[in-house]
Amino acid sequence: MSDPTFLNDVPLEKAAAQIRAAGARENRLAVEAFFDEPTNTASYVIHDPATRQAAIVDSVLDFDAASGRTSTASADAIIAYVKAHGLTVDWLLESHAHADHLSAAPYIQRELGGKLAIGREIITVQNVFGKIFNFGTEFARDGSEFDRLFEDGDTFSVGSIPAMVLHVPGHTPADMAYVIGDVVFTGDTLFMPDFGTARADFPGGDARQLFHSIRRLLALPDETRLFLCHDYKAPGRDTYAWETTVGAERAENIHVRDGVDEAAFVEMRTTRDATLAMPKLILPSVQVNMRAGNLPEPEENGRRYLKLPLDTL
Ligand SMILES: [Fe+2]
Repeated sequence: MSDPTFLNDVPLEKAAAQIRAAGARENRLAVEAFFDEPTNTASYVIHDPATRQAAIVDSVLDFDAASGRTSTASADAIIAYVKAHGLTVDWLLESHAHADHLSAAPYIQRELGGKLAIGREIITVQNVFGKIFNFGTEFARDGSEFDRLFEDGDTFSVGSIPAMVLHVPGHTPADMAYVIGDVVFTGDTLFMPDFGTARADFPGGDARQLFHSIRRLLALPDETRLFLCHDYKAPGRDTYAWETTVGAERAENIHVRDGVDEAAFVEMRTTRDATLAMPKLILPSVQVNMRAGNLPEPEENGRRYLKLPLDTL
């Protein structure tokens, strides 16, 4: 059962209506996934076939932690796809400040344009991790590195296709889900039904909030197409997958299918999170991604440096 308080939620009702209307249209949102195996991340290029206006969701800047070397092979594949299909990029959408990969949004923006957007609660993430990284006053912590800070229920469009933003905190305080046409980009909330849900133990994370955010997404129509941010395969499944539906998640999600209540979810999530190691790239990723994916300014020798706080996480 969905939490009844969310059924009266105005943004959610509007999102559900949008999904029903878009599902009946001939000209549906086109979705192309780009899966990055080193970080298990699915990035997306989406576009309106009628206008060829596009958005890019959660792009990846390749990063080898051992050598400290960045590269743009993954981003260049996205850029090549956009150019080959004659698309105009209106939006670079981040679902949250990722802890497992660096964002390529600034690099892609330089090549293709578009407005870089994230949830307004990124300011909370900037405050929490600004302290952890001991960034000085030159780090404004006001979200000003981004072009747009979305709030729950904000609307925008991809070409002629309407889009709405839902705030879905829990994994981090700033997670946003993007409802675009009849599709939802879930960010780090739900994973495939056989893998479950995102962890909620990073600074600012909250398992109870995550449960309510997920139940909010699962109150959308069953036929809603869900595109996920990550996949790790699953016991008995040896191929990557990143697309499912609200109906499939409600019926089968191993952590949060219909019938699992908040207390059981929080107990499961908290117990499981206590066994998980920190993501390999959390420290490089967060200090870059909370600044909209911009790398630190070079020092006087022309090199850029990342910080590594010891004994903190
Ligand atoms: Fe994440």
